[in-house]
Amino acid sequence: MRKTQDYYFKRAKKEGFPARSVYKLEEAQKKYGFLRPGQSVLDLGAYPGSWTKYVARLVGPDGLVVAIDIQRLRGVADNVYSLQGDIYDLEPSDLMKISPVFDVVLSDMAPKTTGRRDVDHFRSIALAERALSFAREVLRPGGIFFCKAFQGGDFPCFQDKCRSSFKSVRVIKPKSSRPESVEIFLLCKGKIFPPA
Ligand SMILES: C[S@@+](CC[C@H](N)C(=O)[O-])C[C@H]1O[C@@H](n2cnc3c(N)ncnc32)[C@H](O)[C@@H]1O
Repeated sequence: MRKTQDYYFKRAKKEGFPARSVYKLEEAQKKYGFLRPGQSVLDLGAYPGSWTKYVARLVGPDGLVVAIDIQRLRGVADNVYSLQGDIYDLEPSDLMKISPVFDVVLSDMAPKTTGRRDVDHFRSIALAERALSFAREVLRPGGIFFCKAFQGGDFPCFQDKCRSSFKSVRVIKPKSSRPESVEIFLLCKGKIFPPA
């Protein structure tokens, strides 16, 4: 096991998070501070719940986290509404019944990897585009979208789509993301209204 992998894995265990992925979000939050008390946050691809747990603490009792995943997520915190479902079967209107508007949309969704880099890339971009279409619908004007995607040929096109809907788009490769991993994150700030 690599040293960094071991470090983040052990740290997550020690701090009570079910996955090391929490440190990717934490790093972005510490640098850019886009999660705040009282916000309504949509967390796409939430299982096993590290991001959900972290965000639930940050938004606090006056905030709400709506957590979506194909896999069932249970009992994270009182301010978490968890919904088991496939993002391709859900519509933004389903989520707007839970919260009429969101301040932040997060997506850590990832396809089951096949080992074929091109296939995994296309599936990841499809998930990221689906997340973007939700963000366009459910975010308040000025809202924030933080999304994972696998790098590859279609990534620049996805980035352009984000640029057409947000005032600023920043590419982030967190230290806790394994250097050899193709995953990368986009922090999109200031949703433009009406959507492009
Ligand atoms: C890297 S994990 C998320 C880890 C999570 N953010 C955490 O910190 O615990 C990616 C998740 O995306 C979910 N996922 C993949 N395809 C999905 C889809 N079509 N709809 C909803 N969730 C999906 C998977 O079930 C998986 O739990």
